[in-house]
Amino acid sequence: MPTNTIFIIGPFRQLLTMDNLPLKGSLKDSQLEILEEAGIVHQDGKILEIGMFKDLCTKYSSANSEVQFIDSDLIVLPGLIDPHTHLCWAGSRENDYAMRLEGKRYSDIAKSGGGIWDTVTKTRNASDEELKKLLNSRASRQLANGITTCEVKSGYALSLEGEIRLLEIIRTINEEHLVDLIPTCLAAHIKPKDFEGGSSAYLEFLSRNLLPEIKKRGLSDRIDIFVEEGAFGILEAEKYLAEAKIYGFDLVIHGEQFTYGGVDLAVRMGAKSVDHLEVIDSKAIAQLATSGVVAVALPGASIGLGCQFAPARNLLDAGCCLAIGSDWNPGSAPMGDLLVQTAILGTFEKLTNAEQLSAITFRAAHALNLNDRAILRKGNIADFIGFPGRNYKEILYQQGTLKPARVWKRGMLTKT
Ligand code: NIG
Ligand code: FE
Repeated sequence: MPTNTIFIIGPFRQLLTMDNLPLKGSLKDSQLEILEEAGIVHQDGKILEIGMFKDLCTKYSSANSEVQFIDSDLIVLPGLIDPHTHLCWAGSRENDYAMRLEGKRYSDIAKSGGGIWDTVTKTRNASDEELKKLLNSRASRQLANGITTCEVKSGYALSLEGEIRLLEIIRTINEEHLVDLIPTCLAAHIKPKDFEGGSSAYLEFLSRNLLPEIKKRGLSDRIDIFVEEGAFGILEAEKYLAEAKIYGFDLVIHGEQFTYGGVDLAVRMGAKSVDHLEVIDSKAIAQLATSGVVAVALPGASIGLGCQFAPARNLLDAGCCLAIGSDWNPGSAPMGDLLVQTAILGTFEKLTNAEQLSAITFRAAHALNLNDRAILRKGNIADFIGFPGRNYKEILYQQGTLKPARVWKRGMLTKT
């Protein structure tokens, strides 16, 4: 693509800008800004203007511009944002899943040799090339499903060198692949079995050795921790997060999945988001609502584990900022389809189209501290996707089975 060329694309049957919507709280579909027969003008990967296609063609017609006509009905939205995944792993845990179908619990399977540790072993044994190939193909599947920005956690190596290796691999694939990968260090996933010492000693080891190394190499701006029985306790997590904060990292917590305390910690530490929330109670919901912490629901984990969803309706009604992530991982959330999961959460929790779409666009971007995308407006990155159809309500009505027909990343068409 020659640089400086101005591209005018359209006409789109409907275009949802996702602009002018509040970051927090419930939303009605009538609040959505919908343009008909609309177009997008972009240059060098950035949006120059959104408007009526006809008007844009007149305004931008010059030797330096190229009009790209769309001859089918398309509904256009910002590229989707998946704010929570664990895409860098090797192996598979179908046996864990089969055991869960037989009634065994996630925590008991972990104690008996399955669970996160099983994936750690397989990931440690995989070569760089193997891991890159796996991550690359998962990134491609995300992009084909309309996800143009995807958070990816480390956390399946759990050693100094191993976690750095995973973050380096995420960095490489981010450079090679069109999709933007946002790396997060989840070395505090569980205490590795081969670490001599308790969980507090492991966290101290990480803050002393891993955090400065990640900073030095610029491998990630984000630190996550699994606060849970069988993973890490509140006090030790608080100490670790305080250290991470001193280094300037953004903080993220896996909290309130099975037990309590993660939300309170996230609010007190000023975390960017607290993710899971399946067991959050009304007091913690109220606390979250008055904070700047994003509530990230992970319906893929509820579906994968066969347990309740995060109370998304109550979170929104209380005034929280709700985002939705796929949590795509080999254990609790093997499906890896953000739109399907959003639609399922939406129907059970009674979330409007506007609430569901916000949760996987600008509200998810906010959880990742990104303010240059996920709203179609001048100056933002030209990431946008087109679904076949005439009415945006068809997208969630099809419950995620309607896939985008076209995906543009920084203005480049990646799926036709
Ligand atoms: O978000 N809860 C902790 N971590 C992942 C599961 C990882 C795994 O089971 O491999 C989650 O659900
Ligand atoms: Fe997770």
